[in-house]
Amino acid sequence: MHLLFAHPGTPPEEWVAALRAALPEHHVSIWNPNAPATGADVALVWKPPANLFTHETQLKTIFNLGAGVDAVLALPTFPADARLIRLEDAGMAVQMAEYVLFALARASRDFDVYDAQQRAGQWQPAPGTLRADWPVGILGLGRIGLQVAQTLATLGYDVAGWSRSGRDDVAGMTSYAGAEALPAFLARTRVLVNVLPLTAETRGFIDASVLAQLKSGAHVINVGRGESLVEKDLLAALASGQVAGASLDVFETEPLPQDHPFWRDARVHITPHVAARTLLEESIAQIASKVRALAAGQPITGIVSRDRGY
Ligand code: NAP
Ligand code: GLV
Repeated sequence: MHLLFAHPGTPPEEWVAALRAALPEHHVSIWNPNAPATGADVALVWKPPANLFTHETQLKTIFNLGAGVDAVLALPTFPADARLIRLEDAGMAVQMAEYVLFALARASRDFDVYDAQQRAGQWQPAPGTLRADWPVGILGLGRIGLQVAQTLATLGYDVAGWSRSGRDDVAGMTSYAGAEALPAFLARTRVLVNVLPLTAETRGFIDASVLAQLKSGAHVINVGRGESLVEKDLLAALASGQVAGASLDVFETEPLPQDHPFWRDARVHITPHVAARTLLEESIAQIASKVRALAAGQPITGIVSRDRGY
């Protein structure tokens, strides 16, 4: 196979060296839009420019260097007959569990209060909190959502998860499946964690209606995609007090515009889309093993359904 590395946002040398070391029997090139097409049949991409697919017309297998495939599927040039394969965990799930646990603890254990006290030179223990008062609901129980759920359940949080098909194999987690179960899931949830992929169905999903159904004084943790959360509805819910705070890693527009009200609201914690980063070693190992399987005519997992969008 001839593999092409096309990740315009990152220096290619380290990735390509690792790829060549892992797959010495295959040819590896770096995409150069100013050079003639390489004729590669496999590409590794992250947020590629649309002209990649009009330039490199032999591509049949595309490895996405991330879990979410919304950006690549949104390209009008993405070839209709190409196979799209996403990263499955590859070291991202544990990072996400860590991020969500941190945000949850900050919200539920008064850590913001103590930060403010420290700045004011105050020593004033608060009455303390109970996990039972902070039921967590996770939207999306895929490779990442499941690890988040398992981690929080192991620590004794009251955890529920919601997905299209449901999961009954996570000890300590209550599973809710499908649209009919959503109201019951939201009604028991105070901390809403979004780990859904961005698809036609999940775009704008967390809106005023969803936020209103959460327990009062809710906290929203969005680590999925920014376009799944209607930001103006979150601002309204913060203004009314229905939502008491938010921890947001992803936004409708990235980078978050300088004049966005989130920057100036102390109840909103912002990170620049770093909740779970793509790790070179784990990602190359996973992709190399799938390339070897494909070359041997064996089945692989992680193939994106174009119909579902994830
Ligand atoms: P995944 O394994 O494909 O899991 C997706 C989950 O969402 C599945 O449980 C699926 O339900 C559920 N789902 C999808 N559409 C649904 C719908 N319409 N209604 C109900 N449930 C629905 O994905 P993943 O690997 O866990 O990754 C999830 C997302 O995290 C990625 O797509 C990406 O957007 C985001 N992400 C963000 C970062 C970051 O740094 N912020 C890093 C990595 C990933 P079924 O199980 O029933 O199919
Ligand atoms: C990052 O956002 C990813 O989807 O992997």
